[in-house]
Formats: sequence, C-alpha cells, structure tokens
Amino acid sequence: MMFANSTDGYREWRAAKLDNYPKSATELLTEIDGLRDMSGSQKEAILASCRRANMAIYSCRDAFVERKAVRNFAGFFGLTQIDHHLCANDDGVSELAVAADGVRGDYVPYSCRSLSWHTDGYYNDKSRRLQAVLLHCAADAAKGGRNAVLDPEIAYLCLRDANPDYIAAFEHPECMEIPANNGVDGEIRPAVTGPVFWYDPASGALRMRYSARKKNIRWRNDAATTAARECLSELLGDEDGLVLRFRLKPGQGLISNNVLHNRTAFEDTSEQKRLLYRARFFDSILRR
Ligand SMILES: [Fe+2]
Repeated sequence: MMFANSTDGYREWRAAKLDNYPKSATELLTEIDGLRDMSGSQKEAILASCRRANMAIYSCRDAFVERKAVRNFAGFFGLTQIDHHLCANDDGVSELAVAADGVRGDYVPYSCRSLSWHTDGYYNDKSRRLQAVLLHCAADAAKGGRNAVLDPEIAYLCLRDANPDYIAAFEHPECMEIPANNGVDGEIRPAVTGPVFWYDPASGALRMRYSARKKNIRWRNDAATTAARECLSELLGDEDGLVLRFRLKPGQGLISNNVLHNRTAFEDTSEQKRLLYRARFFDSILRR
C-alpha cells in the first residue's frame, strides 16, 4: 500500500480496500497441487489474495508435505531472507508443537495455551523487523487451535476512521517499548522501543508491530495512545467485525505479510498432536 498524501487519494484507497477485503476466510483460500508444484494460475491466485488482504491460505491436494518444501515454497513469493532464531531448525523453519522441556518449553507458542493478538517479532529491533510469515499445518490438534487474523491495513483505516490522532499516537517512535530480556520466542534481547505503525522506506508499504500482552510491554503513557489501544482491542474483539477466523487442516497454510493474528488453546491426544511449520522473513511478499 502506498498512502497518497492527499485526502482524496487516501479516501479512494480506503474505499477500494474495504470493497475488496474478504468477508470470510474462505475467500482467502486457494487450492494448490503442492508446495513444490504449483501452476501459474494457482500462484497468481495466492498473490491476488495477498494484494487484497496481505495474506492467503493455501491448501495442498496432498496433505503430506516435507518440512524442507516450506522454505522453497516461500521463495516463489520472494521470501528468501529467513530469520534463523533460537528455536528454529538449521534451515530456519521452526516446528510449533507442544514442547515439554528445553528452551522452547518456556514459551507460550510451544504450549497448548492460547496466544493473544500480535504480529510476529514485535520484540525485534529495527534492524530485524519481520515482514512476512509462513505457517504450514503438518498436523492439526485433536481439538481447538483456531486462528483469527486481521490485515494491518484494515486496522489502520478503522483506527483512522475513529480518530486520526490514534494514527499519530501509533506512529510515535516511542509508542511501544519491550523491556530487556523479554524472551517470548526463544531470544534474549535488550530493550526495544518503536512505533506500532511505520512505512517501509523502499515501498512505502504500511508495517505494524503489536502485542496485546499485558505483561512486559510498556506503552507510551498519554491519552491518545491509551485511547488508540482501546480502539484496536475493540476492533480485534468484535465478533461481527472484519476479523477473519479459520482452523488450518493438515496440508494447509497461511502466507502473510505478518498480519495481526491470535490462536485459541488446543488439546492434543497421544494419536493426534498439533504440528505447525513456521518460517519468518525479513522481506515481504512480492506484490506483482
Ligand atoms: Fe505469531
């Protein structure tokens, strides 16, 4: 998205964005042959969904997918700069499943608990901001494990509709601070301060970092920031709003420009254990 400076340009962009935005997660879905073999029209359908909503859900005809195919698939969409973080395998792809012990056992993503609204890597500093995430479902849980998502561009326009001051508050460079050593996903790091919304210098695209976690986040203490946060929580909690909900089945995945998302709690059984492959990137999905 490129925001035109003129009010008219913004109004046009806003109207088109709302018009094209999917009404349900089914509209995000594209069936593909597989992660390694995808036709030109299947790839185009995924890209078209990403242009509409900054995300797409794909469904492979064959549910069995090798982990190493995930990274290859991401490459078709221009995602090559993978984040090798502490809990990832050598290829940079993490396996999200319930971990009983080890470093992963300390973190909520590797448990069966629910995850509140966030963008991935909100705790990363400016030099390591994650722009895209691929989540591939290798096995679903016996029960639960639903996701909800919202395109940051939709969050932006709803906040701007409510009050343009909310945008200014969320663009403030000291809006949101993550204190030092706030290990959320396997990394120990210094304090990180930054805005909720900013713009990619090369493309002008809107970017967002956010976490609804109450603990370990220091928000700028002013009325506009507080009101903007409340407005965003209402938007994310609105059952009849623009939030899209789905539950990934084996062979399905979500490819996104790091959209807002959450996860409900889930239950594994000895026969059925949830396993998601996750790859995160410093580049964003090609818009072409
Ligand atoms: Fe996440």
